[in-house]
Amino acid sequence: MPSHLSCPEHGNVLLIGGGGREHALAWKLCQSPRLGDLWLANPGNAALDKLGKPCPRAMDMSDVWQMQHWCEQNDIHLVVVGPEVPLAKGIVDALTTETRMVFGPNKNAAQIEANKAFARELMKQVAIPKAEGRTFKDLQPARHYVDAHEEPCVVKASGLAAGKGVIVCDTRDQAMDAVNRIMANREFGDAGKHIIIEEKLSGQEVSVLALVDGSSIWLLDPCQDHKQLGEGDTGPNTGGMGAYCPTPILDHETMAIIQREIIVPTVDALKREAIQYCGVLYAGIMLTPAGPKVLEFNCRFGDPECQTLMARLKGDLFEILWATCTGDLDNINIEFDPRTACCVVMCSEGYPGKYQTGKVITGIEEAEAMGSDDEIVKVFHAGTKIRDDGALVTNGGRVLGVTALAADLQAARDLANVACEQIHFDGAFYRRDIGDRVLVTS
Ligand code: AMP
Ligand code: GLY
Repeated sequence: MPSHLSCPEHGNVLLIGGGGREHALAWKLCQSPRLGDLWLANPGNAALDKLGKPCPRAMDMSDVWQMQHWCEQNDIHLVVVGPEVPLAKGIVDALTTETRMVFGPNKNAAQIEANKAFARELMKQVAIPKAEGRTFKDLQPARHYVDAHEEPCVVKASGLAAGKGVIVCDTRDQAMDAVNRIMANREFGDAGKHIIIEEKLSGQEVSVLALVDGSSIWLLDPCQDHKQLGEGDTGPNTGGMGAYCPTPILDHETMAIIQREIIVPTVDALKREAIQYCGVLYAGIMLTPAGPKVLEFNCRFGDPECQTLMARLKGDLFEILWATCTGDLDNINIEFDPRTACCVVMCSEGYPGKYQTGKVITGIEEAEAMGSDDEIVKVFHAGTKIRDDGALVTNGGRVLGVTALAADLQAARDLANVACEQIHFDGAFYRRDIGDRVLVTS
């Protein structure tokens, strides 16, 4: 990593990924006076596409030479990688040069998300609090383990499975079925070659994201997301139905514990393995009666958490990402708007299962107009596109992230819900109870 390379006055950026997270990143990057050309590596979504220029073809990790060549030709200074798959495939290793920075961990470091067995082993070495459990490389020992344990458990594919490779089980039968689906039937492909069986933890789940520049760490304000489809946290897990930031459930003391007992030792443990971590380290943490315990690590911004973080971030995202890439986090200051952001995700009927696309979307301008002098509504696009006749239509399961910024969580959630009411497409649905977990207990 070239250290302390000064931030370009005017730099061209290539952004990889095309969902709500990337729209939020692009929106914030576009506020930077340092941004030159913004290139978009994927066909993204209707709003993201308006913020940058499309690359001539998809960035194909199997053709590293072509990607390097394209970055050279277009004088790319900074590559920002949204999703985990290109990180796990080594895009950072492939595209970083003496003068070109790539935001995200390298291939080895991205194992923290891409290889859950590796992450567990790392946590074990330095006694990071986590769910008790075991990794299995073979089917029979995993089945015997399930036979011998009665308690509710969680069965996880060790590899990347697009957020679907975790099955929370209440009974032994469910656990056996999960083992069979993941490991015997390979429902998630090679991600299920190795599995983890963990005790099921209960408590509130929080997302603590930190920027890490190889050695220094900057904890971002904590978020919570709602993964389950239905109100009251019922139904199947999804990519995320809504999020808010900051969450009132984490006080300074608990954040200090998380920093001291989880984030810092993780970065140190990686260093001992000769792995220098750069980028976002996202810890999914359960607040249990015995203290915070790690459920998982991710090597990227969470989605929709990123939408709430970007809505609140003050300052220049280009500078912040650059400082993270160049080991300069100690020399910058990261501040957040004191207000709370709440993102409500509007989805297509049928999601997270099969859904139709191509439904005409109306009301986004009206939704954004629900803001006022001291409250903001920003609608981030996740799965949208412009049809040939110019109409805005749905193009994914998660369609929009309706994000409101207001004085507190109640006000932000209420505003986001009112904004959602302005938006229409056939089969649209969303959860109206984002934040209830903390609103009803506080
Ligand atoms: P992961 O992909 O590991 O974050 O798991 C997805 C979701 O499964 C998490 O956000 C939790 O809601 C749930 N989960 C994962 N591990 C556990 C665990 N040990 N106990 C309870 N829930 C879990
Ligand atoms: N919101 C959860 C995730 O991005 O993994």
